[in-house]
Amino acid sequence: MRHFLRDDDLAPAEQAEVLRRAAALKAAPYDDRCLEGPRMVSIIFDKPTLRTQVSFMAAVSGLGGEPMVVDGRLAGIGERESVADVARILGPQSAAVVWRTFAQSDLELMARYAGVPVVNALTDDFHPCQVLADLQTVAESFDDLAGLTFAYLGDGANNMAQSYLLGCATAGMHVRIGTPATHRPSAAVLARAQEVAAGTGGSVLVTDDPVAAVTGADVVATDTWVSMGMEDQADLRHGDGGPFEPFRVDASLFGHAAGHAVFLHCLPAYRGFEVTEEVIDGPRSRVWDEAENRTHAQKALLSWLVEQASS
Ligand code: NVA
Repeated sequence: MRHFLRDDDLAPAEQAEVLRRAAALKAAPYDDRCLEGPRMVSIIFDKPTLRTQVSFMAAVSGLGGEPMVVDGRLAGIGERESVADVARILGPQSAAVVWRTFAQSDLELMARYAGVPVVNALTDDFHPCQVLADLQTVAESFDDLAGLTFAYLGDGANNMAQSYLLGCATAGMHVRIGTPATHRPSAAVLARAQEVAAGTGGSVLVTDDPVAAVTGADVVATDTWVSMGMEDQADLRHGDGGPFEPFRVDASLFGHAAGHAVFLHCLPAYRGFEVTEEVIDGPRSRVWDEAENRTHAQKALLSWLVEQASS
């Protein structure tokens, strides 16, 4: 059974195939009806959501299926019922299980017991569906993903940074993470990204110099400095003189990127903190395409996973 728990669960050729399907489905949204029946897809949220809920519901409906949104707090997953029991209840009734939660290890448990493909809709460690949508968005601006330089600025230890490392390395890109020395990605994820990049012709760099990270980049991305579940650290992370201030993507920092560079942000965005209005609302920003592409990319992913499960 194939799952999508982290970005490197797709090999380079598989990622390329999913992105090819995503572009095709954007052009012809009703060409794939693989969930016709309708088959149910369980979509569980333990953390807040807007784009992920809407895009997964649209993706499942668009494929002819029935999205079933489950409030994880109401269900009490891991407290009222064990993850394994939830997996054994939802799995047999679903074509796939999609879960946004905290611990990556819980998602792995779900995958072990569900008996159907399990998809990571964000954990503390990874947000791989977002990166698929981001790669689709970048591919709309450039001919080829391989060889592009992708710079991410901000919290280098969060789910977006770690997913960009693995997902962009899989696509053969040169990934740069600009982050304070105190917030580097995990050593294991970094090593894995280097290993993947060695096979795809990409490369990986982590630096505490924001200008070095951005200089000449084709894509510049950032993310909130306060991820969901870290609200108690908001004052420390957003306050004056906080660790991420030098990594704010303003016009001056963005000006070091290539002239044709595009800007990405997974949203929600906190204007004036990780990015300024002139960049996120400016002509190089692709954030609204990025949000729309969640639906197309997830449709393509679900279609591919369901096909794998039945073959
Ligand atoms: N790093 C952010 C991503 C939001 C889509 C968070 O986990 O809150």
